Amino acid sequence: MTKQAEPPGCVWITGASQGLGRALALELVRRGRTVVASARSADKLEDLVRDAAEPTGNGGGRLVPLVVDVTDGPAVAEAVRKIEREIGPIETAVLNAGTHIPVDGRSLKAADFRKLLDINVMGTVLCLEPVIAAMTPRRRGRIAVVASVSGYGGLPSAAAYGLTKAGLINMCESLRPELALAGVTIQVVNPGFVRTPLTDKNDFPMPFLMEPEAAARAFADGLASNRFEIVFPRRLAYLLKVLRLLPYGLYFAVTKGMVKDRESAA
Ligand SMILES: NC(=O)c1ccc[n+]([C@@H]2O[C@H](COP(=O)([O-])OP(=O)(O)OC[C@H]3O[C@@H](n4cnc5c(N)ncnc54)[C@H](OP(=O)(O)O)[C@@H]3O)[C@@H](O)[C@H]2O)c1
Repeated sequence: MTKQAEPPGCVWITGASQGLGRALALELVRRGRTVVASARSADKLEDLVRDAAEPTGNGGGRLVPLVVDVTDGPAVAEAVRKIEREIGPIETAVLNAGTHIPVDGRSLKAADFRKLLDINVMGTVLCLEPVIAAMTPRRRGRIAVVASVSGYGGLPSAAAYGLTKAGLINMCESLRPELALAGVTIQVVNPGFVRTPLTDKNDFPMPFLMEPEAAARAFADGLASNRFEIVFPRRLAYLLKVLRLLPYGLYFAVTKGMVKDRESAA
């Protein structure tokens, strides 16, 4: 049997210094891909380079670190030029950089919303512009935008985070048919709870919590498919999709139970 041809070009992952992006970078190197791993923390990317070079962790792929802040548009555009010039065409861009700030609606701060919109939404869009410009003349390429199941519907403490992730899901739905006409595939990635430094800060129960390695395998399998939505773990996603279909009276009856410090919420 002939070995399936490795797709040409490299994978660019933003937010790869820790958590889900880091685990995905290692998984794709194991699967033989050339991965450019980006984040702001040069020291953590150097650790990742070492881990990716471990004999057990390297299935023929390689990992190249590239420090870039996704909120700096000119730096992102230069990063894309550098990858295309020095590593090769970007075959897959995984726009994963993002963060979370819990919000209590009774004392919300506009600055928290601005920060999450800057990183989660504009950070993604600033990457999309040069990546789409590079891919469309080739009529080839794949873009995966990491949103969240919390983008399906408003949940307590996630007013700012959910706003950004719902926006990303909507944006990808808009772009899918347009980019398909240009030969580019866009996918949205909606993780449930994955154990990472981001969720380590959560002080509430996280149903169906996944380990990052298992999440990265599901993520990588999704990138090898053409389905629009990559979702893991599926059980939590299905529960939240059903919740979203309920009439608002029932929806709020469920989500009210998730509010913390409920005595002052009366
Ligand atoms: N973990 C979960 O349960 C879960 C669930 C749903 C969705 N998600 C989404 O999955 C993605 C990864 O989450 P995670 O849990 O792995 O989070 P994490 O552990 O906090 O990692 C976030 C990554 O984003 C990078 N980053 C943050 N701001 C950046 C910026 N301005 N420029 C470049 N890189 C930046 C961080 O690196 P530096 O600080 O070094 O820049 C880090 O590598 C996020 O978009 C998150 O919203 C996670």
